[in-house]
Amino acid sequence: MHSFGYRANALLTFAMTILALMCTLASLSDNFNSPTPSAHVKVVNINRFQKQPKGNDEVSMQLNISADLQSLFTWNTKQVFVFVAAEYETLKNSLNQISLWDGIIPSKEHAKFWIHTSNKYRFIDQGSNLRGKEFNMTLHWHVMPKTGKMSADKIVMSGYRLPDEYR
Ligand SMILES: *[C@@H]1O[C@H](CO)[C@@H](O)[C@H](O)[C@H]1NC(C)=O
Ligand SMILES: *[C@@H]1O[C@H](CO)[C@@H](O)[C@H](O)[C@H]1NC(C)=O
Repeated sequence: MHSFGYRANALLTFAMTILALMCTLASLSDNFNSPTPSAHVKVVNINRFQKQPKGNDEVSMQLNISADLQSLFTWNTKQVFVFVAAEYETLKNSLNQISLWDGIIPSKEHAKFWIHTSNKYRFIDQGSNLRGKEFNMTLHWHVMPKTGKMSADKIVMSGYRLPDEYR
């Protein structure tokens, strides 16, 4: 006959196995979810566009960021970190990425939103390359799951251009 301790131990092992299995299933089922997020970023206004005394260009802009990230949320999603960046090419760097705004989306109910804001982080170029510069707006996200691996992706919006002259 098995002792009580042995049985309790076996039960615990069984419970742990089930739990591990459920976690695996949870992160697996997440992989089958193919989300269809959408985003749109509108440059509403260029507030300021100047060359700093040090010679670096700085832009301040009003943005209307709208997004529907609800499909990123499954029952295994803890929260989603999101940021909007301007991306452009210069002679020195093939990719310059300037983060303009970020936020944390705590739940599906908050995942469809628009926000009218000026850039939260400064848009400064390492040089004076921004006059007439074409750039992309990108909306990046990191999905933090309750269990399993973090995943990340982005939406690229192209066709943006800075003014030809400082103002
Ligand atoms: C921002 O964009 C959204 C979606 O395009 C629109 O519904 C909203 O009215 C805009 N807000 C402002 C202040 O322009
Ligand atoms: C901007 O987006 C276009 C189209 O997706 C892409 O071809 C281009 O390389 C992007 N530019 C930068 C600097 O990332």
